[in-house]
Amino acid sequence: MSHEISNEKVENGLVEYRVWDKGIRIFHWVNVLLVTTLMFVGLIMLFKSELGISGLAAKIRLKELHTVIGYMFAINLLIRLMWGFAGNPFAKFSSMRPKISELSIYKQRLKMGKNPQYLGHNPIGKFAVLTIMTLLIVIMVSGLIRAGTDIYYPPLGGAVTRYIAADTVDPATIKAYDNTGVNLDKKANIKPYKSLAGDIHLYSVYLLMLLILMHIIGVVLVELHHQPGIISAMFSGKKRIAGQCEDVNG
Ligand code: HEM
Repeated sequence: MSHEISNEKVENGLVEYRVWDKGIRIFHWVNVLLVTTLMFVGLIMLFKSELGISGLAAKIRLKELHTVIGYMFAINLLIRLMWGFAGNPFAKFSSMRPKISELSIYKQRLKMGKNPQYLGHNPIGKFAVLTIMTLLIVIMVSGLIRAGTDIYYPPLGGAVTRYIAADTVDPATIKAYDNTGVNLDKKANIKPYKSLAGDIHLYSVYLLMLLILMHIIGVVLVELHHQPGIISAMFSGKKRIAGQCEDVNG
């Protein structure tokens, strides 16, 4: 595999490469902040009775707050997905495609005591990024479906209230957790979709929590034992590497 290198300079045998562009770094840290906040609010929603939060108004408020933060998360994620086609070579999905063959060569080299260096993600990192990205998309879609079917928030809320409003009732008057003006049979029809979206959302979030933990342990171990500087590179965008990189020609 080959990459265009946007910049490089030599210093004491180390070559400095500009790897992660601003788009990637902003996405990464905004995503960390928003996912952490969403988990925090989500956990409060899950354990509200244990936390002494009661009443329908508080329950709806928490869901609204979580959804508004969820929109920011969704916008950031959608921008990243577009960046995957328009960003620098390391931001592009074409350079992040995981390959079993690369993974086995990487593992073999590590077993032989070598420290293969990569400008982009190493072969294990590529699998991790693909899994995390897929999970983020699943969480975004299931969250938006849940927001539409549960508290009638956009983008689906309008269609849902139009569907469940009883004849002659203005859909705009339908309120979350209030059956006034609602055709109960139609509301029951959407319940399975609402429940499915809720289950997918919650179990994907549990899986994401596990992956985030593995991601943090993974980068710390790689930083300490194999590729020093991978963590600071997500702040500065630059990697300093001695010798040949596996994913660059020359
Ligand atoms: C990584 C990002 C996210 C995390 C970590 C997260 C986490 C959670 C958690 C822990 C819950 C509680 C589950 C429950 O009460 O059943 C929840 C519920 C919910 N989430 Fe998310 N969420 C995320 C993204 C989103 C997005 C993007 C949206 C939509 C814009 C969204 C909308 C909702 C809604 C409406 C609920 C309420 C479900 C219900 O109780 O009816 N979430 N989320």
